[in-house]
Amino acid sequence: MLRNDILQYVYAGLFAVALVLGLYEVEVIASGAAGLSALNVSLAASTLFLLGTVLLLGPLSRLFNRFDWALKYRKEVGIMSFFTGFLHVYLVMFPLARNGPWGLYSSRPWSAYPGLEALIVLFVLLIISNRYATLALGAKLWWQLQYWGARIAFALIAFHMVVLKQKTIMSWLIPGDVPVTPGVVHYPPLIIWEAQFVLLILVIRLSELLGAKAARVITIVTSVSLLLMMAWAMFLR
Ligand code: HEM
Repeated sequence: MLRNDILQYVYAGLFAVALVLGLYEVEVIASGAAGLSALNVSLAASTLFLLGTVLLLGPLSRLFNRFDWALKYRKEVGIMSFFTGFLHVYLVMFPLARNGPWGLYSSRPWSAYPGLEALIVLFVLLIISNRYATLALGAKLWWQLQYWGARIAFALIAFHMVVLKQKTIMSWLIPGDVPVTPGVVHYPPLIIWEAQFVLLILVIRLSELLGAKAARVITIVTSVSLLLMMAWAMFLR
């Protein structure tokens, strides 16, 4: 039992590290600059993807049996999202800070505070992610805290990134706004992948309101459309 628990943390940890490294490579290609700044963006994006995965696993396993095996990793993947989020906040508040640790809170309050609140929610979820907390709080309250905590943290992160990066998102949506060289692959900045992922989660969760059959079709169509849109942005436009 204990061995299985530890193994689940190891697998979730390896998944998180692979995600951070993979997204770091994408960010380096997209921005053309390696270093701490690219690592920071990759940690921020990984937090969003890890927490989004936690939210997606429920509906995906309800709609498609093939995702059932992954459900048991939800808690561990959620915990990893706290650590990547913590490293992102540490980097922006200390090594990368231009005006001291609190500079961003006065210059960009509408994005910095929601980001900090998201980290605090993830911290609370981390603290109560153990058997003692489940016993002390009671299974029902514990489950409600986890359920709403993950959703509130995700909404705060989505708000944080859209407020910060709305110009980049808009310029990718408007054809002609991004300078293109014919025959060259244009890697969209990570924020475009992130924005699409947030959209995908919203669509999949809302589609469940229409019943399982419709939700399955909507999930497949939306996933394929987003992939095609990305391929168009990278190779064709
Ligand atoms: C758990 C907490 C947080 C998460 C998950 C998070 C997530 C994100 C995401 C997804 C992005 C967009 C990355 C991209 O450009 O692709 C981002 C960017 C950014 N965040 Fe956060 N954030 C958090 C907390 C904070 C806090 C508290 C601050 C400020 C003190 C902050 C400052 C920034 C800055 C400055 C950027 C722009 C980075 C760049 O473009 O180089 N974040 N964050």
